[in-house]
Amino acid sequence: MAEDLQIAKGSKAEQYEALVPQIAALLDGEPNLVANMANMAAALKEQFGWWWVGFYLADGPDELVLGPFQGPVACTRIRKGRGVCGSSWASASTIIVPDVEQFPGHIACSSLSRSEIVVPLWNGKEIVGVLDVDSEHLDHFDETDKQYLEQIVRLLRF
Ligand code: SME
Repeated sequence: MAEDLQIAKGSKAEQYEALVPQIAALLDGEPNLVANMANMAAALKEQFGWWWVGFYLADGPDELVLGPFQGPVACTRIRKGRGVCGSSWASASTIIVPDVEQFPGHIACSSLSRSEIVVPLWNGKEIVGVLDVDSEHLDHFDETDKQYLEQIVRLLRF
C-alpha cells in the first residue's frame, strides 16, 4: 500500500476500526520487527495524537529496554515489576492507569504524562515486551483501547 495513513474521524471504536486494517497492510509481508514496531507506533501516534506511544522489549529475564517509539525522549531501561511497564510484564496483563500519580511506583519519563495504558506482547510462550501509551490528559484510556490495542499488538510476529 502507499505509505499514507487515512486518518479516520468518529468514535474511538470507529477510529480503531479504520486503523487496524491499515496497520495490518503496513506490516503485511514485512518480517522485520523493528520496522513493524516503528510503523505501528507512528500509525497510532498519527491517528490518535497521543503524547507518547512505543515499545519496551525484554532484555534478559529482568529488564525492559526502550524500543521504537513516537514522542519525547524516554527512560531507556525499566526493571521487571517496576513502574506500569514492568508491572504489566510481571503480571502478563494489560494495565490501565487513569491517573499516574495514583499508581504506586509509576516511572515519570515525562512530567506531562497524566494517564497511561500498557499492553504486554506475547510470543506464544512468554511476554517479550510491552506497548506503552501515555496521554497528557487524565483518564484517557478505557476498555475500548485495551481491546483494540491487544488486537493490534497481535499483528506483530516475534
Ligand atoms: N510510565 C512508564 C515508563 C515509561 S514512559 O511512560 C515512556 C512506567 O511507569 O512504566
